[in-house]
Amino acid sequence: TTPRWEAAADLVVIGSGVAGLTAALRGRALGLRVLVVTKAAIEDGNTRWAQGGVAVVLPGEHDDGDSVAKHVDDTLIAGAGLCDEDVVQSILDGGPAAVARLRESGARFDAGVGGGLARTREGGHTAFRVIHAGGDATGAEVERALVAETTDRRLPVLERHVAVDALRTPAGAVAGVSVLDPDGVLGVVRAPAVLLATGGLGQLYQATSNPEPATGDGLALALRAGAQAADVEFVQFHPTVLYTPGARGRCPLVTEAVRGEGARLLDGAGELVMLGVHPLGDLAPRDVVSAAINRRMAEAPGGVDDHVFLDATRITGFAKRFPTVYAAARAAGIDPLREFIPVTPAAHFACGGVVTDTTGRTGVTGLYAAGEVARTGLHGANRLASNSLLEGLVMGERVAEAAAADLASGVLAEPKHGLAPECRHVEAADRDSLQRAMSRYAAIGRDADGLAVLGSVLDLATVDSPLRTQAEVEDAALTLAAQALVAAAAHRTESRGCHVRLDFPERDERGGRRSQLIRLSPSGQ
Ligand code: SIN
Repeated sequence: TTPRWEAAADLVVIGSGVAGLTAALRGRALGLRVLVVTKAAIEDGNTRWAQGGVAVVLPGEHDDGDSVAKHVDDTLIAGAGLCDEDVVQSILDGGPAAVARLRESGARFDAGVGGGLARTREGGHTAFRVIHAGGDATGAEVERALVAETTDRRLPVLERHVAVDALRTPAGAVAGVSVLDPDGVLGVVRAPAVLLATGGLGQLYQATSNPEPATGDGLALALRAGAQAADVEFVQFHPTVLYTPGARGRCPLVTEAVRGEGARLLDGAGELVMLGVHPLGDLAPRDVVSAAINRRMAEAPGGVDDHVFLDATRITGFAKRFPTVYAAARAAGIDPLREFIPVTPAAHFACGGVVTDTTGRTGVTGLYAAGEVARTGLHGANRLASNSLLEGLVMGERVAEAAAADLASGVLAEPKHGLAPECRHVEAADRDSLQRAMSRYAAIGRDADGLAVLGSVLDLATVDSPLRTQAEVEDAALTLAAQALVAAAAHRTESRGCHVRLDFPERDERGGRRSQLIRLSPSGQ
């Protein structure tokens, strides 16, 4: 447990997706010594898999009467009453400038027919305001541009290094982080400002659109460091990942923009899934579409279906507009130009997470969070499609500015020698069993009995032993994230947004359904 190597920085950024790299670049531009720590290769996180695009209303681009005010309204409606309206306004207002800076740094978005940028629609959007790149490879282009700039500016990046725990002063401030190097050797990075930009937790479930690194590490680290979390019960299931029998782990996404361009959802009998369900039909908010698909699969005659179909055969130029989806479908033996694409919902996005304000500060001195790991109040109970790349861009910049301001004003702790990482961790559940149990009891339909079963699976001791490998760090994180999620899901006795309770099918409008703040007690329980 004695650290064998050390490094120092003003700002250590954990994670190298859109929020992390944007923050690292902004921090460097502000003159900070920045170090990025990322547990796989730099481009390996969730960002590069994002397809649909970036939702943003750009001045001069929207001649169809769209406005930030309409984007705010759509976000609030999708968020099912739990968004923080001021936060939504603040982050969406920041969108155009953040996107402009990304374009200046080299990101190329697709051009539209009449000049300007091409724009599409996704679920919950009442206007065509989602800009995209490479057809359906927006995240890959955003990540490419940010990685290129990171390399150009020679920002130091520790790849294949996993952050374990915050280093804390006796007063509870964060002043660095313990890290395992690729050989599993423990070191410390001393830094007065630590940014969690670790992404989501889709790996809590058997089927997810998320890649392997999405194991809730930042949420767990923050909880152990004394930060608060909220809205973790709201895990968004994307309505359409490509269905292949028995698929586990990352399933290829079939972007909602396919429905934005006119594709329709059909059940096994060829009936429209969304007919009569919602005024926006196939482009209803994502929680509504996923829940409708789930119901339709459960009601299938002759037993429970495990997929429905997407009819995209009428979209002209499909292969060019959606090259990623086309290639994934062809690899699975489906020709989307002629055949219906089999699809099913899968875990996609953590709407909640570590509570921050609109600057990315967590409330624990020296600890910041941005991107999917954070809960700013933008997403409420259900994130509006393509708002997350935007949030990463806006909040990545703001959090670096907040850290720089805190450094300059002297409120941060001195990263002294001898600060020891926390060793108390929850005993980790077996990953396979955890994913199976979460998929069965804490996916789209939940009830008290199932959550109680999960609660007993997760009733694990807190142990005083250090985490020695990346797999141990991830398993402990998944377990703690699951505990937080299950506790929040059991507490919310209503259905709202992504949280569907079979035993409480209605939304509880009597008030008092605000987000519950979750924090670990000092004993680690
Ligand atoms: C998609 O392309 O459907 C995903 C976009 C998102 O999750 O925001």
